[in-house]
Amino acid sequence: MTYSANTPEVRPTCPNFSSGPTAKRPGFSLNQLQNAALGRSHRSGLSKQKLKAAIERTKAILALPADYRVAIVPASDTGAVEMCMWSMLGARPVDIFAWESFGQDWVTDALEQLKDVEARIYGADYGALPDFSAARDDADILFTWNGTTSGVRVPDADWITPNPDRIVICDATSAVFAQEMDWDKLDVVTYSWQKVLGGEAAHGMLILSPNAVRRLESYTPDRALPKIFRMTKKGKLNEALFEGSTINTPSMLCVEDYLAALDWCETLGGPKALKARSDRSLGYLTDWVAKTDWIAFLCADPETRSNTGVTFKITDPRITALAEADQRGFIKKMMGLLDAEGVAYDAAGYAKAPPGLRIWCGATVEPEDVKALTAWLDWAFSETVKELAATS
Ligand SMILES: Cc1ncc(COP(=O)(O)O)c(C=O)c1O
Repeated sequence: MTYSANTPEVRPTCPNFSSGPTAKRPGFSLNQLQNAALGRSHRSGLSKQKLKAAIERTKAILALPADYRVAIVPASDTGAVEMCMWSMLGARPVDIFAWESFGQDWVTDALEQLKDVEARIYGADYGALPDFSAARDDADILFTWNGTTSGVRVPDADWITPNPDRIVICDATSAVFAQEMDWDKLDVVTYSWQKVLGGEAAHGMLILSPNAVRRLESYTPDRALPKIFRMTKKGKLNEALFEGSTINTPSMLCVEDYLAALDWCETLGGPKALKARSDRSLGYLTDWVAKTDWIAFLCADPETRSNTGVTFKITDPRITALAEADQRGFIKKMMGLLDAEGVAYDAAGYAKAPPGLRIWCGATVEPEDVKALTAWLDWAFSETVKELAATS
């Protein structure tokens, strides 16, 4: 690690600001996973007990409606979203709202892969939200609660008219445990362990309302469904899946880590306390943006600004005058300095988003680290501007 003479005094205690996999929870140690059911079948009594505990504790901690079901599914959040799209869509038209890269993936799935789904697409540029008032009362809905790559989230689900005949699918991977979810309005909610809880990748969490179950049991789409997408047996819900009998083999090490992350969440005071940590981090960033002339939030509206994946654009005219590739080059240099100092990793904006920065503020990131980071961002910016001036 190099220490320049003019670097800020306070260093973040953890330099991990990636938006996924995210920082491990404070105090994490591999010793916490000692009781993992390693080397045991995932169908053994011990493993099934742990898988069931992961499901039951999720329901309790998130305070899900009593009749909602939870399953652990393959292929992370993507797997959870796609198994529902493939199994449920097509019964009626669907309104899809997309305003960043992952939402756009679901649009591509619907239009170019499923093909037979009658979809209306509502889009918006990075930093903004689509017009939700256009949602039809009787169409299915598919949307992302928090756009991880754009830093924009929906403030609520008030725009969704309750209708038991349709289903509402919500990709909430960077929102669950950090934002208030209106469970009653949502029939399918998905997330992965590697976001707000700083868990391990590859496992998806699938939350289903009774409406979603009814759709699964009453509608058989005329398309091939691979084994890892199948949630029904002989037209009835595979209840065992929602009690911990996973479709295929999960990692019991990752399961143990998820259980430990839930312990941590409960110790802090539950999802509200986790949300408060994210809000505090966002507060520090808001204070910094207010007094800093080279940076602005990509999402201009505080009401819809994410408190997890927080995104920024550089507003300094010396940088905005550059071609896009050169702006990305500038940011890469800034990131290189932060990386070399060991103060911030993975804080550049998403490659498909406009050039900028993205700082993960999920609960596993210490708010005081976010505060300390702001001085380092100022430092890296001014060092890189100096370098730019010297070479141009
Ligand atoms: C909104 C959103 N959807 C889906 C994904 C994909 O998640 P996973 O890699 O867990 O499948 C991400 C990852 O960042 C995301 O932010």
